[in-house]
Amino acid sequence: MLTAYDYPTARAVDQAGVDSILVGDSLGMVVLGYENTLSVTLQDMIHHAKAVMRGARKAFVVADMPFMTYEINRDESIRNAGRLVQEAGVQAVKVEGGREIINVVEGIVSTGIPVMGHLGLTPQSIHQFGGFKVQAKDEAAARKLLEDALALEEAGAFAVVLEGIPQQLARLVTERLGIPTIGIGAGPDCDGQVLVTHDLLGIFDRFVPKFVKQYANMYELMLESLSRYVQEVENGTFPGPEHCFNIEPEVLESLYRGE
Ligand code: KIV
Repeated sequence: MLTAYDYPTARAVDQAGVDSILVGDSLGMVVLGYENTLSVTLQDMIHHAKAVMRGARKAFVVADMPFMTYEINRDESIRNAGRLVQEAGVQAVKVEGGREIINVVEGIVSTGIPVMGHLGLTPQSIHQFGGFKVQAKDEAAARKLLEDALALEEAGAFAVVLEGIPQQLARLVTERLGIPTIGIGAGPDCDGQVLVTHDLLGIFDRFVPKFVKQYANMYELMLESLSRYVQEVENGTFPGPEHCFNIEPEVLESLYRGE
């Protein structure tokens, strides 16, 4: 699984052969320039998910439900999940949290919308965690995470993202669950892996979490190409003859003569 937020990225990610695309609310940080994911709105998600749907051919597309679109009550959550499916056309939604949102997960699943869970370092709870820190390291927190994962499965979730937790705990959760676990910063023993595409490609350079492998440095490539463009326009090497259109000489002559 990889994230995408627009048409060209969705096309590339899809062609690369991922099984699933996540229109993550990481959108807020890596595309919209916010400090965290909390400012992302349902309208933002619908707008970007629509573009992703136009680029995705084979992959199963999941959209994040942003902060405050599923916490208030079950009816509102169902309505908001329905908008992502109906207006954007995604095939499933993802929500962050465990037993505290089970009622909501059951409600959305009961309407026929597949729900993906998300446990561990859930970015919408960043202020509760006091920053982007590894979660579930002590026994009580690890036990709670395992119980939350089992509760999500019981409520009908079709998969669970495990983010920023010890790899040994992710392995245990993966062994205990019948549904797939998708890891990000949760070690190699999850059933699948997900990364934020902008991290993997080195487009987002504000910070690089330990669990990210950068396969390219696209920010540097972008900067280098854009600087060359600026230089070439300034020194007159762009546009060259191959980028120009021509008018017939007699038409031009007539224009110069003022006829
Ligand atoms: O928003 C997102 O991109 C996510 C992934 C980090 C799993 O939730």
